[in-house]
Amino acid sequence: MASSVVVSWMVLGLFMAISTTHVEAAGRAFFVFGDSLVDNGNNDYLDTTARADSPPYGIDTPSHRPTGRFSNGKNIPDFISDALESEPTLPYLSPELNGDKLLVGANFASAGIGILNDTGIQFINIIRMFRQFEYFEEYQSRLADLIGEDEAQRMVNGALVLITVGGNDFVNNYYLVPFSARSRQFNLPDYVRYLISEYSKLLMRLYELGARRVLVTGTGPLGCVPAELAMRSPSGQCDPELQRAAALYNPQLLEMVNGLNSQLGTTIFLAANTQQQTINFISSPGAYGFSTSKIACCGQGLYNGLGLCTPLSNLCPNRDEYVFWDPFHPSQRANGIIVDMILKGSAEHMSPMNLSTFLALDATTKT
Ligand SMILES: *[C@@H]1O[C@H](CO)[C@@H](O)[C@H](O)[C@H]1NC(C)=O
Ligand SMILES: *[C@@H]1O[C@H](CO)[C@@H](O)[C@H](O)[C@H]1NC(C)=O
Repeated sequence: MASSVVVSWMVLGLFMAISTTHVEAAGRAFFVFGDSLVDNGNNDYLDTTARADSPPYGIDTPSHRPTGRFSNGKNIPDFISDALESEPTLPYLSPELNGDKLLVGANFASAGIGILNDTGIQFINIIRMFRQFEYFEEYQSRLADLIGEDEAQRMVNGALVLITVGGNDFVNNYYLVPFSARSRQFNLPDYVRYLISEYSKLLMRLYELGARRVLVTGTGPLGCVPAELAMRSPSGQCDPELQRAAALYNPQLLEMVNGLNSQLGTTIFLAANTQQQTINFISSPGAYGFSTSKIACCGQGLYNGLGLCTPLSNLCPNRDEYVFWDPFHPSQRANGIIVDMILKGSAEHMSPMNLSTFLALDATTKT
């Protein structure tokens, strides 16, 4: 399965302050890039084991059927689409993504991928970042055929973009096996620096492709997910090595995004460091109405953290009481809380403003 991971707690936004384009608050297009946390079903169209296409995935959707999302219901992009008053983004590979549906945006994410091309190699046929960007270019020419070059450009510039990637570069690469190739090549601090420098290239590429409002998420509490507790830390304490990786990575990501903003000139930096919230979320699940943050709702073995979520797995009766739906991915309810923090977070979590404030601001910058 998609051991592609990771709760995204630290959310950074990168966007241009001054816009000369006409942007509407509602109906804004939405583009999504990244891994299983944000894949709306692309992998269902691929020959890969990294997929969420069997029950009980999707059990809490109206149809109660799997949708390709790694959730019991909605994922992070779905809640953002709700906030944009849009329909959910279709997977780019969906045959339904045609005609007017192109105006909603598109989801290019693919479970299992990472910043690096060699991340998730065990999943074989997945859409790596460079390929997601090629599809984005292809999308833009299809859009231009539909509404014309200028309008297409305006739509892309005015769109909200979400990118969630990086967790797999740790769990499905550096720490996948003892003495992995990358861990022999780099010590952890050097590996983190390498990832950050490759990530900055990805963000600049997005900018070149016309993205002007980009939410960038950091890695979550890598060492605290049920899968890692089961494999590395049976006592139930978050695994210190993976937590060290996240602690090195997240601040450098923030710094890098900051740097790109100043490099690009007239940018305003929108960042959320929800580190404190994270700690609360994991250590005081009760404060958020959860009964556990250690045990996955769907899975088997210790903490339900082992193997896949399948019809044969244990399944909890009340999904809303669980932070984690499967061994790696948040439940629908947890995803909603994460997006709430992105939208409404106070200044200490989203700086200099939250996404709601930003979207409202943005809608008034019409010329
Ligand atoms: C990933 O592969 C693509 C296509 O081969 C290549 O253009 C790109 O530079 C590679 N990225 C990294 C980080 O090596
Ligand atoms: C967003 O941030 C602003 C400024 O910090 C704050 O006043 C507001 O309550 C937050 N929430 C919303 C929904 O705007």
